[in-house]
Amino acid sequence: MEVIVTPTPETAASAAAQAVLAGLPAGKPPVLGLATGSSPLGLYAELAAAAAAGRVDFSAAKGFALDEYVGLPAGHPQSYRQVLIHEVCDVIGLPLTGLNVPDGTGATDAALEAGAAAYDAAIREAGGVDVQILGIGANGHVGFNEPGSSLSSRTRVKRLAAGTRRDNARFFADDADVPTHCITQGLGTVLDARRLVLIATGSAKAAAIAAAVEGPLSASCPGSILQWHSDAVVVVDETAAARL
Ligand code: GLP
Repeated sequence: MEVIVTPTPETAASAAAQAVLAGLPAGKPPVLGLATGSSPLGLYAELAAAAAAGRVDFSAAKGFALDEYVGLPAGHPQSYRQVLIHEVCDVIGLPLTGLNVPDGTGATDAALEAGAAAYDAAIREAGGVDVQILGIGANGHVGFNEPGSSLSSRTRVKRLAAGTRRDNARFFADDADVPTHCITQGLGTVLDARRLVLIATGSAKAAAIAAAVEGPLSASCPGSILQWHSDAVVVVDETAAARL
């Protein structure tokens, strides 16, 4: 694992973008793994700048979301499909036809599980993810793989931790509107990507980063899976690195 500590969130975004670009294949459209959350927004802006400068072309790229809420109606502004359309596709020029997001609208458990299995199959059919962009939750979660998630898990339906629902309540009108479940790529699915680039900034992530980078490889900190990957880059600013 390579750990890059930079002075500010802005320099972290720039370093993370370089790490993403360096992991993209030459001569074929990129396949990106896409994280939501505030952490990668600066990175996406840097990728947009690189595309504008002709250093990369996302016009035929594919993107695979890490996760999606269960139970939000299609088109809900807080669904991760809508968030990724606005925060990634519109920004870096990734076509909507190339955007893949787990289907959280299934009416039954069986429909949701079938959608989760189909999602892993779609990633395989696309040839796998070249670079998976990651944030990390304050409790160490990756995607929506909460502490305790199996290290070899595949895309599946999960219940959200109470703390994660509280963290994400700011995006909903009422706390009760925050979904209770999600579909998330599994940790095993994430590990299949050829390169992982995790970005974290701010003191609220310092404990999670310390556990992920220097703690044991353990399901109690899903972010620690990066230690297990042969091409993982962790980019943090000084405040997120404070406990390393
Ligand atoms: C969310 C997402 C994660 C994200 C994390 C951190 O719940 N499911 O993919 O990495 O929380 O979000 P933020 O970057 O806003 O702190």
